[in-house]
Amino acid sequence: MGKTNKKLKIAVAGCGRQAWLAFFPWIKEHPEAELAAVADADEGLAEKSAAKFGAGACYSSWEEMVEKCDAEAMIITTPPWVHADPAVAAAERGMHVLCEKPMATTVEDCARMVEAAEKNGVILDVAHSLRFDPGYEKLKSLVKSGEIGRVYQLRATYDSWVPDFSKSPFKEIYDFGCKYRLFGSKDMGIWRMSDPRTNGGVYFDHGIHYVDMFRWITEERVVSASGVVQHVIPGRLNEDHASSLLRFESGACAYVQGSLCRVSARGSCDEGMLHGETGCIKYKMDGTWYVLGIPHLYNVHASVWMFGLPSFMVNQWMPVHVKYGKSQCMFKRQLDHFVAKVNGSLEPHPVIGESWACSGRDGMENVRIVHAVYESDRKNSETVKLD
Ligand SMILES: NC(=O)c1ccc[n+]([C@@H]2O[C@H](COP(=O)([O-])OP(=O)(O)OC[C@H]3O[C@@H](n4cnc5c(N)ncnc54)[C@H](O)[C@@H]3O)[C@@H](O)[C@H]2O)c1
Repeated sequence: MGKTNKKLKIAVAGCGRQAWLAFFPWIKEHPEAELAAVADADEGLAEKSAAKFGAGACYSSWEEMVEKCDAEAMIITTPPWVHADPAVAAAERGMHVLCEKPMATTVEDCARMVEAAEKNGVILDVAHSLRFDPGYEKLKSLVKSGEIGRVYQLRATYDSWVPDFSKSPFKEIYDFGCKYRLFGSKDMGIWRMSDPRTNGGVYFDHGIHYVDMFRWITEERVVSASGVVQHVIPGRLNEDHASSLLRFESGACAYVQGSLCRVSARGSCDEGMLHGETGCIKYKMDGTWYVLGIPHLYNVHASVWMFGLPSFMVNQWMPVHVKYGKSQCMFKRQLDHFVAKVNGSLEPHPVIGESWACSGRDGMENVRIVHAVYESDRKNSETVKLD
């Protein structure tokens, strides 16, 4: 990325786990960015974040921050039901926006965000951060450069395990975790499973990453979707297991599975395969960083193998080298990309080109597809068409 002398002033709305993991440390060490302001409904947390990461100003509401701060860009790391309003307000004040996923809880809210950004001529990107993971970047680059021909099937399984926090001994662990903010969040992120304002469970919270990823890899439209949504651990309001089948315009199909109840080792939580006409790619992403929760340790993540022409000679999957190290952390790269884009110093990716980040329109399409999967489930898994 090219260099400029300008320092981009960034405001961050929401000082929870994701802000601490994916944004604050990287803004702090970025030579062309500075943390102009932070806001969180939890005033103490906003103050603590401002002090630790050197924010210029600190607010207890995003509304006040948007009104008063002098930032040129805003990053939104509040829960999904607090994405649309701050994004619209920031765009109307002429601020560029990088909003966490899922972009918003409804397609209507996403449309409001896109409209505000387009009307005010500001950037609106959605933090589908996996696009910046070197492992997924490798998948995209291999496909884009034709290594496995036309892709006709994709599969992603995200199988995590979050115990039933209402029962001993996990209840005690939960209480302890909340008290000492072990997971970086005051409620251990339990809103994902229990808050109706999310408008969805694990498929909306995490499955959406693969919906985005597979649309990005194939560069195709999803024309229909079907799914099964389950509540495995009793008492959870939002689904904790979901399986879906997406059909692309070429006839290619994708299977996406998200789960919070697969009891297994973390190392096998994030896996998948891409089938192409002339080869196959399989991948396994290391989930240890979720446990560690320390951004600077998140540097060894992806394993990728390909079965292509040389593989036929030895009947073996060939490992594909994926870059690693601190500079490869997807959150750092995502922030670098956003800063360069706003500062006008972005250089296109040698293979992927300029369309690396997820745009507002792409983020909206991802939300539409997730809701189609939910609609399918409500209709006994009938296929739902997306015009
Ligand atoms: N891209 C990724 O890999 C990734 C990973 C984790 C989370 N996320 C996303 O990041 C977002 C935040 O998740 P998190 O894990 O940090 O949640 P969190 O609960 O840890 O943090 C959210 C923060 O927002 C604050 N907040 C809530 N309502 C507010 C309001 N009205 N005004 C101001 N502050 C408010 C809360 O007090 C809390 O500190 C979500 O959209 C989530 O899906 C993305």
